[in-house]
Amino acid sequence: MADLIIRKAGEEDATAIWELEKACFEDPWSLDSISFELRENPHALYLLATEEDEAVGYMGIWCLLDEGQVTNVAVHPAHRGKHIAQRILEDMIRITTSGGIKHHTLEVRPSNAAAIGLYEKMGFKTEGRRKKYYQNNGEDALIMWRHEE
Ligand SMILES: CC(C)(COP(=O)(O)OP(=O)(O)OC[C@H]1O[C@@H](n2cnc3c(N)ncnc32)[C@H](O)[C@@H]1OP(=O)(O)O)[C@@H](O)C(=O)NCCC(=O)NCCS
Repeated sequence: MADLIIRKAGEEDATAIWELEKACFEDPWSLDSISFELRENPHALYLLATEEDEAVGYMGIWCLLDEGQVTNVAVHPAHRGKHIAQRILEDMIRITTSGGIKHHTLEVRPSNAAAIGLYEKMGFKTEGRRKKYYQNNGEDALIMWRHEE
């Protein structure tokens, strides 16, 4: 298996992340939004995973006070099932907790069994629900949290 490299993403990675967004989501973020996140959002941290210089996955988080709000986690369909998302999340949580984050939270569609399985494996638990949260189909969002000791 090719070596997986996980590193902090910069503005120069915006297009690679946008390509992953389009491959992974029905309602992808725009290139402008991704560029803004990488260039101007002081609270945002993005990690990019590559294999042999190919972008295979990424994750974003907003850190405010002691709380980390996960914005997105995605792995290219051709590279799923190899624990890439898990390794990105593990690296991210290591970085954020060492920076003082004590609570991680995210929203996920109840229909997204893969993502829920990933988050549960990483210690997240469902603590709430937002009704009709997703604009493209009116689906609810589950609100999941992971609290550090
Ligand atoms: C969710 C996603 C990021 C998982 O990426 P991945 O690299 O394939 O996941 P991993 O291989 O790291 O899986 C880690 C764990 O997650 C769970 N998991 C992953 N895929 C799963 C699936 N299809 N069904 C159930 N659980 C699953 C398992 O517990 C797995 O551990 P295991 O293989 O030891 O059982 C990927 O499916 C994806 O990009 N989906 C589209 C984008 C998306 O929905 N992102 C989440 C938005 S909230």
